[in-house]
Amino acid sequence: MCGIVAAVAQRQVAPILLEGLSRLEYRGYDSCGLCTVNQHEFTCLKTVEKVTALKAMVQKQGCPGTTGIAHTRWATHGEPSVTNAHPHIIGDLALVHNGIIENFAELKNALIAEGYEFKSQTDTEVLLAEIHFLAVKKGLPLKTAFAKALRNVKGSYAIALVDRKNPETLLCARQGSPFVIGLGIEENFVASDVLALLPVTHRFIYPEEGSIAEITVSSVKVFDLNLNERKTEICESDLDAESISKGKYRHFMQKEIFEQPQALEHTSLGRICDGTVDLSSVRGFTADFLKNIENIKIVACGTSYHAGLVGKYWFEELAGISSSVEIASEYRYRKAVVKPHSLFITISQSGETADTLASLRLAQNQGYEASLCICNVAASSLVRESDYAMLTRAGAEIGVASTKAFTTQLLCLLLLSTYLGTVQKKINDTQCNEICNAISELPNAASEVLECDHRIALLAERFAGKHHCLFLGRGIMYPIALEGALKLKEISYIHAEGYAAGELKHGPIALIDENMPVVVVAPDNELLGKLESNIEEVRARGGKLFVFSQGKTNLKSDSQTEIIALPASNPVLHPILFTLPLQLLAYYCALINGTDVDQPRNLAKSVTVE
Ligand code: F6R
Repeated sequence: MCGIVAAVAQRQVAPILLEGLSRLEYRGYDSCGLCTVNQHEFTCLKTVEKVTALKAMVQKQGCPGTTGIAHTRWATHGEPSVTNAHPHIIGDLALVHNGIIENFAELKNALIAEGYEFKSQTDTEVLLAEIHFLAVKKGLPLKTAFAKALRNVKGSYAIALVDRKNPETLLCARQGSPFVIGLGIEENFVASDVLALLPVTHRFIYPEEGSIAEITVSSVKVFDLNLNERKTEICESDLDAESISKGKYRHFMQKEIFEQPQALEHTSLGRICDGTVDLSSVRGFTADFLKNIENIKIVACGTSYHAGLVGKYWFEELAGISSSVEIASEYRYRKAVVKPHSLFITISQSGETADTLASLRLAQNQGYEASLCICNVAASSLVRESDYAMLTRAGAEIGVASTKAFTTQLLCLLLLSTYLGTVQKKINDTQCNEICNAISELPNAASEVLECDHRIALLAERFAGKHHCLFLGRGIMYPIALEGALKLKEISYIHAEGYAAGELKHGPIALIDENMPVVVVAPDNELLGKLESNIEEVRARGGKLFVFSQGKTNLKSDSQTEIIALPASNPVLHPILFTLPLQLLAYYCALINGTDVDQPRNLAKSVTVE
């Protein structure tokens, strides 16, 4: 979603702000802008084009100043336009904002009655007007007005404000939307995430929810919304600036697909020990970690939700623990009945997804035994607010479409369910050993599967000109069909749906014709025979089939059916390994359709508003 960068320094800040914005592009945006202060004058430039266009404007027109704020906007209130783009300026104040002010209409009416006129349709301009009103018309010191305005608003925000009369100080705040403070030498910064600031610092402060920060070149003070000073902790980031370069790859998504063998190896590092699962690296782990758990509720969004669906199969099969999975935006608005001894699990790449976070906060008062998150970002709100945190260790994921985050989430779920299976004595040592051996072989198995790259590139040509596609799977492969469909639709814009293959004849079979490719995930498992019957139903209706199998199927390739054989593997790895060719298929279809692979239209990497 929107990205914020701000800097106060002794050098020119426009290059720092622009570099920061480029590094936040992956979050998704539709317009961008920056504002610097030089000799108490603003220079403010905005565009509905990409950050490269903003760079060109800066080069041409200049953007002098040692203090500045910058923004990539993902429209919520008001269309993407230069007027609606941030920064917004009223009088001497300029503001950038990520989030949503929910009571903006009410505030706006009150401010109009006070004589304010609004140029944009944004909630951000209303927030700025509220600050301006309290500081200028009510005569409060700016920091006091800033805090009071924030106490008056409902919603979520990460904001940075600069006053051209006092450009030595940046005022920032967060509630429900992320930001980090980067510490330099005689210069300090703020950004939506650390990736934006890696070229200038590796030292960060992660302010808590409801924090205000007062930042100058030489000092950083953090307060709560009542301006009581808060203690802060400085953390060193071990990410390097290169972690967000494409290297030899054409797109981040492609790079991240091929990084999966290594990412999976990192996920299991130290977590498999002498044929058993060791979860002592889980933050919050104690000797009787999750001993009394009898039920599991998993809550997540999008691809992470699909991981949760796979997790349910494993928790029930390997650990015998009753599990259910819900979409976070649904869970947070219903009255859930929580069974005794229930564990609440959230899954998220970013750890900042608004609905998932809100569900966690709700669950904390619903009587769960504990909360555990499976997350890729160690410093995220989800990790900080959960009782237990299991990091996926996938490394920075920049492509909007989640790839390595998903497969590493799956691996965490497999480790966790195997661990619970042994603790709860549902699987014996031999079974546990077998799963651990399979996990140790996973990185190599994943590399082997990725060798199908060229084959999938050719296969994708068969999808050229197609507008709809079905993905079928059964059992634990049903969520993988859902994930395959989500990947295809989000980056190639081909409409795709995932179905449990047994459900086909209850409706979707009506769609089958030669223009509707049907992709099937058909590993060697106990449901293969059933799946083959479903495949025959499609063949009988003239459907074109693309079947990912492991060679044991009775089906043969012919003019209607293409069989893509993947290497044999332990069944416990099927969900992870069969995901890889579906990611490649989506990637190559997107290339053929000429879409923006890493930043598909309308999408944001980190969905920090509901
Ligand atoms: C799809 C995708 C999204 C995310 C969803 C949740 O490829 O990336 O569906 O999975 O927005 O995001 P996180 O995992 O950050 O909570």
